[in-house]
Amino acid sequence: MTATTETPAVSPSEGREIVFDVNHITLRFGGVTSINDVSLRMYRDEILAVIGPNGAGKTSLFNSLTGVYTPQEGSITLAGRTGDAPQTVIGKKTHVINHMGVARTFQNIRLFPALTALENVKVGIETRMKAGPIASMLGLPNQRREERESTQRAYDLLKLVGLVNRANNLAGSLAYGEQRRLEIARALGTDPGVILLDEPAAGTNPVEKRDLADLIRLINRELGISVLLIEHDMKLVMSVADRLIVLNFGSKIAEGLPEEIQRNPAVIAAYLGTSAEEAEAQAEAQPELELIADETEGMTSLAESTEPDGTSFDPTTSTEEESR
Ligand SMILES: Nc1ncnc2c1ncn2[C@@H]1O[C@H](COP(=O)(O)OP(=O)(O)O)[C@@H](O)[C@H]1O
Ligand SMILES: [Mg+2]
Repeated sequence: MTATTETPAVSPSEGREIVFDVNHITLRFGGVTSINDVSLRMYRDEILAVIGPNGAGKTSLFNSLTGVYTPQEGSITLAGRTGDAPQTVIGKKTHVINHMGVARTFQNIRLFPALTALENVKVGIETRMKAGPIASMLGLPNQRREERESTQRAYDLLKLVGLVNRANNLAGSLAYGEQRRLEIARALGTDPGVILLDEPAAGTNPVEKRDLADLIRLINRELGISVLLIEHDMKLVMSVADRLIVLNFGSKIAEGLPEEIQRNPAVIAAYLGTSAEEAEAQAEAQPELELIADETEGMTSLAESTEPDGTSFDPTTSTEEESR
């Protein structure tokens, strides 16, 4: 392990360690190009947000970064944890990428609804544990110690996300916002260096959104985990992101600091569904036109989030396609 130098969260530079290095990836499904020649870098310790209207290719990007989809063109390398040597992602299975330090949550929540909250988190933790299935079946001493450690760690993570009082409730019985936080706890259980959150605030109320913003900051600043965030709620995004990347129709149309993105005519146009020129003219006429105003919901409502479908599956091993 090589030590990395501490650098500020903003103003990425060549000197910073790169987590994901994405070069010119293109992903097609038949005639649909869901990612079109996109390049980006995610730096160690940053909160990087990916925004864009529905169908822009955000989830496809996450799926490409985690081995669910393989882009037909381009390269992706990953250094999951601090000091890791960059390795290619292309061609690797999702569980391998998870072991390389990448955890994620899904746009459509994926929990084991018939397991308790605690058990769901333990599933995440145990994907990282050493005792194999045979030791587990035989209940060997190592396995029993790991079991105790895993239970303790699961409680700690539930506490972190504010769900310790729900430990023994079935995941399926939790309120929607609680399920989203539980999914984050389970993802953290795999001990990631980077976490990918796909619309973690979708379907949650304003109080839950504020708690979520605090949680995201805590994960980043206290746990030292790099965060890649897809989120439609502009107020939330602008309050937590160090930097943003904007996708539209599969292409990257902008990249920059929150204040730059909020005023970017191409970005405003993408959200309004007009041309950049029209958006610029509108912005000049109405200086307050930004992606989000301080007190109001601003244009957040223009990019309505997809509702969850409540599908369940084995979240730790599945390579099935993310439903959209
Ligand atoms: N498995 C798939 N099969 C066919 N088309 C897909 C698939 N996954 C994504 N797409 C298409 O790629 C585009 C981007 O989708 P997606 O990445 O889900 O966008 P976003 O997450 O930004 O809303 C859409 O046109 C979508 O229909
Ligand atoms: Mg999506």
